[in-house]
Formats: sequence, C-alpha cells, structure tokens
Amino acid sequence: MLFPMLSSLAFCFAAGVAGQTYATPNSTHGPTPDANGKYEISAEGIRARFVPYGASISDLFVVDKNGVERDIVLGFDTAGEFTTDPYHPHLGSVPGRYANRIKNSTFTIDGTTYKVTPNDNNGLNTLHGGPDGWDYRNFTVVAHTADSITFSIVDPDGKEGFPGEVVSYITYTLSPNTWHIKMVALATTKKTPIMLSSHTYWNLDGFAHPDTPTALNHTVSLPFSGQRVGVDGILIPDGTILPNAKGSVNDFWSAPKQMGANLTSPEMLGNCGTNCTGYDNCFLVNRAQNGPYDWRTSDPIASVWSDFSGIKLDIYTDQDAFQVYSCGFQNGTLPIKSSQGLEGRRRVVEKYGCIVLEVQDWIDGINHPEWGREKRQVFGPGDEPYVLEATYVFSVDS
Ligand SMILES: *[C@@H]1O[C@H](CO)[C@@H](O)[C@H](O)[C@H]1NC(C)=O
Ligand SMILES: *[C@@H]1O[C@H](CO)[C@@H](O)[C@H](O)[C@H]1NC(C)=O
Ligand SMILES: *[C@@H]1O[C@H](CO)[C@@H](O)[C@H](O)[C@H]1NC(C)=O
Ligand SMILES: *[C@@H]1O[C@H](CO)[C@@H](O)[C@H](O)[C@H]1NC(C)=O
Ligand SMILES: *[C@@H]1O[C@H](CO)[C@@H](O)[C@H](O)[C@H]1NC(C)=O
Ligand SMILES: *[C@@H]1O[C@H](CO)[C@@H](O)[C@H](O)[C@H]1NC(C)=O
Ligand SMILES: *[C@@H]1O[C@H](CO)[C@@H](O)[C@H](O)[C@H]1NC(C)=O
Repeated sequence: MLFPMLSSLAFCFAAGVAGQTYATPNSTHGPTPDANGKYEISAEGIRARFVPYGASISDLFVVDKNGVERDIVLGFDTAGEFTTDPYHPHLGSVPGRYANRIKNSTFTIDGTTYKVTPNDNNGLNTLHGGPDGWDYRNFTVVAHTADSITFSIVDPDGKEGFPGEVVSYITYTLSPNTWHIKMVALATTKKTPIMLSSHTYWNLDGFAHPDTPTALNHTVSLPFSGQRVGVDGILIPDGTILPNAKGSVNDFWSAPKQMGANLTSPEMLGNCGTNCTGYDNCFLVNRAQNGPYDWRTSDPIASVWSDFSGIKLDIYTDQDAFQVYSCGFQNGTLPIKSSQGLEGRRRVVEKYGCIVLEVQDWIDGINHPEWGREKRQVFGPGDEPYVLEATYVFSVDS
C-alpha cells in the first residue's frame, strides 16, 4: 500500500511540506520490504535499512579506513524482532509524540492539566511518549525510492493521554556519505506537546574493535555545549541549567575527549542519575550567542569518531539540545547483528558498548515555561508544523 488513509488536509500537507513525489516509486528496491522486512536505500559511500516499527533505522553501512564495510548502528537482523524484543531500548527509532521524560506524567496547556500514561521509574514519569508511544507502533511506508524513504503515523486524540490528533511524516534521505533526517508533525485538532528525536545507537567500529567491545574509545566533541540541563536522581529536569566547567567530566566543548576518558573520575558517579556512572545528559546547543548562523553550513554541533575504524560522524541540526547516553544500562543481554562483531567474541552489546546521540529540544520544556520553549514544543491547529532536521555526514580518517 502506497498511501495511508489520511484526511485530505494531512495528505496535501505532506505533499507540500515534505516535498515528496508520492507517485509510484521509481526504484530498484521497490515499495516492498526485503526478506527480513527491511527497506533499503543507498547513495555513494552509504547504504541504510529501515523498518516500519518506530520508523527505525536498522542498519547503516559505511566503509572504514581499511576498506571494510561496517554496520555502525544497533538494530535487529529482522523487522519482527523490533516488536518481539522484550527490552525495547528504542533502537534507532523516532520516540514520540514527546521524547525523553515528562515529570510526574503531567503538563498544563492553557490552564488544562493533562495526565499521560506513566511508564518509567515505577510509574513516576513518562518516557518517550508512554508505554505505547510512537516507537512501539508500525508506521506506514508512504514513499520509497532508491535513496529515500518516508514513513507516516496518525496518533489519535487521547492516545497515551495526549490531547488531540497528531499526523507526522518522517523522511530519511541518503546522499553521498550523508544521512538526512526530516521530521514533520502537525497537531490537527487540539494544542498538544510535540518533541521528536532520532534514538539511534552507534558503535562506529561495528563492534569489531579488537581491543574493546565498548564505545569508550570513541572521541566526542560538542563545541557549543557549555551547559546542560540539571536533573534529579531519576533524570527529571529540576529547573537548573548547569555549566559544564572546563576540565569537568561533562566538558566536551573545550577539546574533544574520549567517551571513557573520565570514567573512573569520582565526579562520574551519579552523573547519569543515582548510582549511575557515565552519561545520560541533555547538553544545550548554544549557537545564537555567537550571532546569526545557518545550521546546514555552520560547524557541526557534535562530532564523534573512532580511531580504530577511522569513521567520523559530524552532526548538523536545527535543534537546540542534544542528549548523549553512553549505554551504561546495557549488560550483555541485547544481541548484535550478524553484520557486526568480531569472531571469537560474545555477540552481544556489552556495558558502554554504544553511544546514543539524540538531537532534540530542551527536555521536559513543557514543564518549564521559564525556559521559553513553548513555540518549539506546543503545537495546535493552524500553527506552523513541528519540524526537526538533522544531517549526519560520514568521513574516514585514514
Ligand atoms: C527510473 O526511471 C528512469 C527513466 O525512466 C530510469 O533511467 C532509471 O533507471 C529508473 N530507476 C531509478 C532507480 O532511477
Ligand atoms: C510490525 O510489523 C512487523 C513486520 O510486519 C510485524 O512482525 C509486527 O508484529 C508488527 N508490530 C506491530 C506492533 O504491529
Ligand atoms: C502529580 O500529578 C498529579 C496530577 O496528575 C497531581 O495531583 C500531583 O500533585 C502531582 N505530584 C507532584 C509531586 O507534582
Ligand atoms: C577528563 O578527561 C580529560 C581528558 O583526559 C582530562 O583532561 C580531565 O582532567 C578529566 N577530568 C576529570 C574530572 O577527571
Ligand atoms: C581506550 O580507552 C581506555 C579506557 O578509557 C584507555 O585506557 C585507552 O588508552 C584507550 N585506547 C586508545 C587506543 O585510545
Ligand atoms: C545506590 O547504591 C548504594 C550503595 O550501593 C545503595 O545503598 C543504594 O540503595 C543505591 N540507591 C539506589 C537508588 O539504587
Ligand atoms: C540486563 O538488562 C535487562 C534490560 O534492562 C534486564 O531486564 C535484565 O534483568 C538485566 N540482566 C542482568 C543480568 O542484570
């Protein structure tokens, strides 16, 4: 099926805003998935596969400094496993309609307080849109060409407790060595919070680094992130904005640093919540202070690279925050894919085996009006649509 059953309003909107041609795709890959239920797209130096479940990326192949193709994202070998996996780490998905945590599963819009379904910290808050958030559902494939795929979802009024219907289109496009993401969402009936992200887990070595199954040796640079959102012990923003002091464990702005550089520092214990060692932090992206900028052409907001594979990822985005999670809760339960790993080593994701890099807006901004995020996070009928764009550029340092 090429077209979702949407209102004509939503359909025209999609055709206009996303700029897609919704004719029968002229594609060597066809509108149907491969035998594993995945949809492949490709361009020079890069190919990727996606599954409808959560509009998730399942595989991303680039060639490393030795000419070996590496699959550098977490996923499953088959589309079905995204649904059946009991742990649901949101692999490669689009969390929605509101990414990250909502304090006390509560927010207020125009004087009305809404309670959404809790699913985190024993019912204290809502994570990534609730227990049946967007990344627990199969999106519809509305377009698929050789280098691009578009998914859609219609999120009904009241689902997970959120007010109003939301219609969204997620378009992934490949161009030479580049993955481009465009997410558009429209609140069609009521004012509602919307904040999306791409929850992709990375291991730039494809789990083949002979010295380590972890990503602790990946180098990270966040040149505009001198601040982060302060959180309590269960990662709920407490209203503070904290400085990432030079030389501190959260300083990735003054110089690039390996993910694991400060792992044994006493400061690191509790950095990602009570008793948690590592990163699960929302870094702010402060660019406006330096004058006007164009996110497409000004410096990347984040760079990550691995000396083993030589693969480097530069991230460009229109978003103002960036969550970094160092996979401290992985414990060797989740399998890696058949396209990954090293012979003779356990075929699982070990603790710190990956990094999640999430472009998004200021987390729980709907509960902090003093941050002034309303225009970026609350949308109603007649408003401009919610838009997220990100460009991931890959290069190889040989
Ligand atoms: C699409 O159509 C054009 C013109 O008919 C053809 O040259 C091309 O090979 C087709 N396939 C793709 C993937 O573009
Ligand atoms: C999503 O689609 C896959 C592949 O067709 C299927 O195995 C799975 O059961 C579906 N999941 C849901 C939640 O509908
Ligand atoms: C949590 O939200 C409920 C409404 O859903 C409210 O009654 C309660 O006071 C809130 N608790 C806290 C600690 O804010
Ligand atoms: C973190 O690591 C960097 C790079 O090795 C180092 O310069 C810095 O002193 C370390 N900071 C802490 C708090 O350990
Ligand atoms: C890899 O990381 C470990 C732990 O942070 C560090 O001791 C080691 O020097 C790093 N290796 C390289 C090649 O950077
Ligand atoms: C944190 O660790 C300490 C020491 O192991 C333990 O007593 C405490 O219960 C832990 N707290 C939580 C919230 O897990
Ligand atoms: C590993 O993590 C999974 C997912 O969070 C959890 O269900 C499981 O109990 C953990 N296993 C061990 C041995 O800690």
